[in-house]
Amino acid sequence: MKIVALSCTQKRLPSLTDALLEAAIDGVVREVDDAEIQRIRLIDHRIAMCEGEDTCLDPEVGRCTLDDDFEHVVDLAEGAQAMLLAMPVYAGNVPAVLKIFQERLKSFMNARQRPFGNLLVGTIVHSRTMLTEPALGSLFPWYLRLRNKNVASACFTQNDHQDLTRTAALDLCVAVGRQLGMTLDASRSPANDRDDRAAPPLLQSPANDRTAPPLVQSPASDRTALPLVQSPARPRCGDPAASSPGA
Ligand SMILES: Cc1cc2nc3c(=O)[nH]c(=O)nc-3n(C[C@H](O)[C@H](O)[C@H](O)COP(=O)(O)O)c2cc1C
Repeated sequence: MKIVALSCTQKRLPSLTDALLEAAIDGVVREVDDAEIQRIRLIDHRIAMCEGEDTCLDPEVGRCTLDDDFEHVVDLAEGAQAMLLAMPVYAGNVPAVLKIFQERLKSFMNARQRPFGNLLVGTIVHSRTMLTEPALGSLFPWYLRLRNKNVASACFTQNDHQDLTRTAALDLCVAVGRQLGMTLDASRSPANDRDDRAAPPLLQSPANDRTAPPLVQSPASDRTALPLVQSPARPRCGDPAASSPGA
């Protein structure tokens, strides 16, 4: 099963974005036996800004005519069923390299097959001090348009941490990857025996042991559903008991 790992940092390696993305990849490969990971670092490719000529929408031309690596990047995602996307917050929003890429994908708006579309997605957003949640939110109109379904996300700010990869952020990235993997697994076999699943062990690590956060290890067969908490019965809207004064 092909999974695109899209790094949207503008930094050369090593970057924090790539470290967090690797943790999420680690999570997804634990859950998907036949995972084939296609890593894409957008910044490593020449992707020019859309020039707004709408040549791609002209039925006579039907494609973007800018001569760069865009089509190659699109080809890299061919046949993927899922995507892990990791990005830093730049100026309160998505990094320019991702915005440019999103705009270029518009050239496939009328195509039957939308590259980077119809995917299950796990998203990781991080920043130095703030605005991770609004930046995450700004991805959703794009996901919606591509008919992507975000199944798990994690947001972190560095704040006073010298190295976010030595915090529980890494565990959460693994969890995003695992959740994406489990969702892929479930979508592959709808008759899945979900009731047999055991709850994953709660991650416990002493507060002073932050050098190498333990990663959750649990085979899928160990999971059981958590007990459902049921509210007491109450009158339904429109029932006489519900509309009587004081009810
Ligand atoms: C151009 C630019 C803009 C940034 N804007 C923000 C911001 O608005 N809010 C914030 O908290 N951090 C901001 N940062 C900090 C990055 O989110 C942070 O440094 C991140 O770790 C970079 O990840 P990387 O190592 O993958 O490049 C910005 C960094 C750059 C280079």
